[in-house]
Amino acid sequence: MTIKEDSAHHSFFGDPVQIIVGVSASVAIYKAPVFIRRLIERGFLCRVVMSENATKLMSPQLFEAVSDHHVYVSEFGHQREKGMDHITLKNWADILIYYPASANLIGNIAYGHAPDLISTLYVAYSGPVFVAPAMNPDMLAHPMVRHNIRRLHRSGVEILDPTTGILACGEAGPGKLVEPEATADHLKRWVDVHRANIDARRRWH
Ligand SMILES: Cc1cc2nc3c(=O)[nH]c(=O)nc-3n(C[C@H](O)[C@H](O)[C@H](O)COP(=O)(O)O)c2cc1C
Repeated sequence: MTIKEDSAHHSFFGDPVQIIVGVSASVAIYKAPVFIRRLIERGFLCRVVMSENATKLMSPQLFEAVSDHHVYVSEFGHQREKGMDHITLKNWADILIYYPASANLIGNIAYGHAPDLISTLYVAYSGPVFVAPAMNPDMLAHPMVRHNIRRLHRSGVEILDPTTGILACGEAGPGKLVEPEATADHLKRWVDVHRANIDARRRWH
C-alpha cells in the first residue's frame, strides 16, 4: 500500500498515530527492528527511512519485513517511491524519531543540512521530533557533538539521552542507545498526553 492510499482513509480521532523511524549508521542499529516491532505492538503505524550507510550495516529488506512497507533510502533513481518522497513522508508523519541517531546525522540536522532523504525529511517536517543518539563515549563527549545535541534541544527536539554501560565497540561510558521497549513506552505516554495536538495538526494537512 502506498502512503497516498493510506492517507485517503484518514479520519482524525482514534486513528493510529503514524511514526517515521529514521535509522542511521550506528552499531546500535541492531535495536531498531525490535523498536519498530514494539511500536507496532503499541498500535502505531510505522514507516522507515534509512541513511545509505545504515543499509550497509543492516538490510532494508529486514526493515521492510518488520514495518510491512517499502523502506525509504533515497528519493532519487530507482529507490524512490513517488516523485518527491520527502514531501509525501513529511505529510504522512505525526511523529519523527531518529533511532539510532549517529553523530553525523545529528550534525546534519542540527544545522539544517539536507544531503540525503533522512536529513531532508527533518528540514521538511514541522511536527514533533525525537532524537536517540548512539555512539562511542568519546564521540558523545566531543564538544561539537555536544554542541549539536544542545542545538537540537534548543530547537524543540526531544533528546532521548543515551545510557551508560559497555558499548558494542567494547568501551564503557555513556553513549548506549536507549532501549527499544522503554522508548516505545515513552512515545506511547507522550502520545496519550499530546493526542489532541496530533489531531489538530492533522487537520492542517
Ligand atoms: C560498524 C560501524 C559502527 C558505527 N557505529 C557508530 C555509532 O554507534 N555512532 C556513530 O555516530 N557513528 C558510528 N559509526 C560511524 C558512522 O557510521 C559514520 O559516521 C557514517 O558516516 C554515518 O552515516 P549516516 O549518518 O549517514 O548514517 C559506525 C561505523 C561503523 C562502520
